[in-house]
Amino acid sequence: KKGNFEHFMQKEIHEQPDSLTMTMRGRLIRGEQRVKGVLLGGLKDHLRTIRRSRRIIFIGCGTSYNAALASRPIIEELSGVPVTMEIASDLIDRQGPIYREDTAIFVSQSGETADTLQALEYARANGALCVGITNTVGSAIARGTHCGVHINAGCEIGVASTKAYTSQIAVIIMLALALGDDSISSQRRREAIIDDCFNLPSKVRDVLKLDQDMKELAMLLMEEQSLLVFGRGYNYATALECALKVKEVSLMHSEGILAGEMKHGPLALVDETLPIIVIATRDGSSSKQQSVIQQLKARKGRLIVMCTEGDAQSMCPDGTCRVIEVPQVQDCLQPIINIVPLQLLAYHLTVLRGFNVDQPRNLAKSVTTQ
Ligand code: UD1
Ligand code: F6R
Repeated sequence: KKGNFEHFMQKEIHEQPDSLTMTMRGRLIRGEQRVKGVLLGGLKDHLRTIRRSRRIIFIGCGTSYNAALASRPIIEELSGVPVTMEIASDLIDRQGPIYREDTAIFVSQSGETADTLQALEYARANGALCVGITNTVGSAIARGTHCGVHINAGCEIGVASTKAYTSQIAVIIMLALALGDDSISSQRRREAIIDDCFNLPSKVRDVLKLDQDMKELAMLLMEEQSLLVFGRGYNYATALECALKVKEVSLMHSEGILAGEMKHGPLALVDETLPIIVIATRDGSSSKQQSVIQQLKARKGRLIVMCTEGDAQSMCPDGTCRVIEVPQVQDCLQPIINIVPLQLLAYHLTVLRGFNVDQPRNLAKSVTTQ
């Protein structure tokens, strides 16, 4: 069932224009006569409750947690509700407070992850509205939540989650649009995002053309011990998710770092040997990323800069960085574009290093034990 591909991970990365189309199908309303909007069948009777909740808590593990983190800023912006993030096992370890006025959103590809499921039982017992974002109809989390959204990305076989990640982000952005639906002041912003949602599959198709470039980059990096990834704002999650993919499949140490934390420790690691990816696509925090690049260069950092098409010169004026140029979309959608070349990088690193792509050492697709 791998078609023309050698591995499921590769197939699933390349499937993303279609999986994203499936995720958004029937849920986005085009403009013209009707006002542009979003229809999430599973949530329409619960939106008022979510809007009025005191807090939204995202709960998940691994890649699913990262997807929620990537979409947190747009939920905060369009709903105005404070959003907190919980790794499921940590919430359980702390028995963190959850109240009736909270909305707890459980993000899980499989819908069967033991930690997330236990956190769901805990939040439900505490009276929170429990919302699921799952890929698996009939899964334990889909059944145990009060309501939710299926991401409809199609079956994901590779242990490393790829297409589910981008579809989870797309669903949470649609949720943000639905929560903001009653605000006139954000209407323009919402319409611009919806327009770009329709463009997303073709932009993902464009960015997939970087496959060969990413293979070449992987050839350069394959002997390295470690790879750092700096991101901030919308793309802090991109840095974490890139590092997670690289470590879990290529078995190379990798760490995603919030660029704002650079001076509080990580800067000590920088020298002329350690490769560092800096995500610096255009958005409200790209000028800060530009100065991060300058500071890393001042310490002779070996930089690979991901920037918006046409920005290579301004982001790296002396031409000494390796550059990955990607098409621009609305800031909140940019993490969906940016992760694709990094998924390809993790994939090629793994193949070149000779490890098992679809069944990484010690890992299982669905973690049903604690
Ligand atoms: C639903 C149908 C879809 C049909 C569409 C037509 C299902 C699974 N989906 O999609 O086939 O084309 O109507 O209008 O039959 N839910 C949870 N927890 C979760 C995920 C979902 O409780 O984690 C609930 C939802 O609240 C909803 C139901 O499951 O009641 C289906 O969710 P979803 O598939 O996202 O709904 P639609 O997109 O409306
Ligand atoms: C990473 C990966 C894991 C899962 C995590 C949660 O590629 O696949 O980090 O994301 O085990 O799994 P789900 O989403 O099924 O709850």
